[in-house]
Amino acid sequence: MADQNDVLLEVKNLRTYFKLTEGTLKAVDDVSFNVRKGRTLGVLGESGCGKSVTAQSILQIVPTPGRVEGHVFYSGGKSTIDLLTLPAEGESMREIRGREIAMIFQEPMTAFSPVHTIGNQIMETMLVHDTTATKEEAQAKAVELLGRVGIAMPETRIHEFPFQLSGGMRQRSMIAMALMMKPKLLIADEPTTALDVTIQAQILRLIKELQAEMGMSVMFITHNLGVITNMADEVAVMYLGKIVEIGDVRQVFKSAMHPYTQALLLSIPRVGRKEKTRLQAIGGNVPVPLDPPPACGFFSRCSRAVPGRCDAGVPELIETQPGHFVRCVLYQ
Ligand SMILES: Nc1ncnc2c1ncn2[C@@H]1O[C@H](COP(=O)(O)OP(=O)(O)O)[C@@H](O)[C@H]1O
Ligand SMILES: [Mg+2]
Repeated sequence: MADQNDVLLEVKNLRTYFKLTEGTLKAVDDVSFNVRKGRTLGVLGESGCGKSVTAQSILQIVPTPGRVEGHVFYSGGKSTIDLLTLPAEGESMREIRGREIAMIFQEPMTAFSPVHTIGNQIMETMLVHDTTATKEEAQAKAVELLGRVGIAMPETRIHEFPFQLSGGMRQRSMIAMALMMKPKLLIADEPTTALDVTIQAQILRLIKELQAEMGMSVMFITHNLGVITNMADEVAVMYLGKIVEIGDVRQVFKSAMHPYTQALLLSIPRVGRKEKTRLQAIGGNVPVPLDPPPACGFFSRCSRAVPGRCDAGVPELIETQPGHFVRCVLYQ
């Protein structure tokens, strides 16, 4: 584990369940990890593994009927606070969401309202959270940031509406808006999945540059292993609401231990390959964690499953090498 002074966000025993008529859907089930100051944690896993709900839980924006339990210790201020003890709609949590922890998504149209100009929306972030800022200051800052994220003629662009911009430009504008208050943590949830590879590479480079400049931490969520290799210092591999492997990114990919991580490595997406064929190496899909049995979640798809052991209980997460943890009976 990292030196505690080094940790910006400590997520501990996070559980997010949705009580549905069909049963209890355990979207996030006892997840713990650290995001270190100035570093990038990659969160890797196929669609449906619980990555987005983990991010939503940290910011307390899980849709109803989701219930979040556990701890999210945030050390960006003078003292450490457990964000989950703050009322979700209270002022402190709004402050955290607006100026301490910012989030960007795959679909920028969810971040922007279609009826206001890009400039007004970016400026609004500053005007709401910094009551001493004037409109002129906010506008100057918005223009500066839009230029910084690579938008040409930002002083003209700020007067445009979201639909007037290309997908790549909207994505850049959302990053500009997220960075307006210089957040200490940026949560990026599949921010480049919808973009073509050239623009994806530009955006990834941009996030890295801005991170180095501002010293912020990043939690980078993706199903794309190549992106994790490019962006992350540490990686948490998620499967069915649980972390199955976590550690230093080079260490984990050099000697992947969990059969799920190994399978992901065999299915590295290559340029030009279609999305659908990416995870060919793993048969089937991620199941829905509705009242999941007490077993390894990967049991049904695992080529190395040991019947009678893997389906007899949930394996513990154990440290196999310093800082490298795996949840699999093969190593217990
Ligand atoms: N609002 C919701 N209500 C009920 N179930 C949800 C909701 N959001 C996500 N889930 C379920 O939680 C699980 C994890 O989803 P999610 O975190 O979105 O996965 P990922 O981001 O890794 O693709 C999935 O089984 C999904 O169907
Ligand atoms: Mg998601």
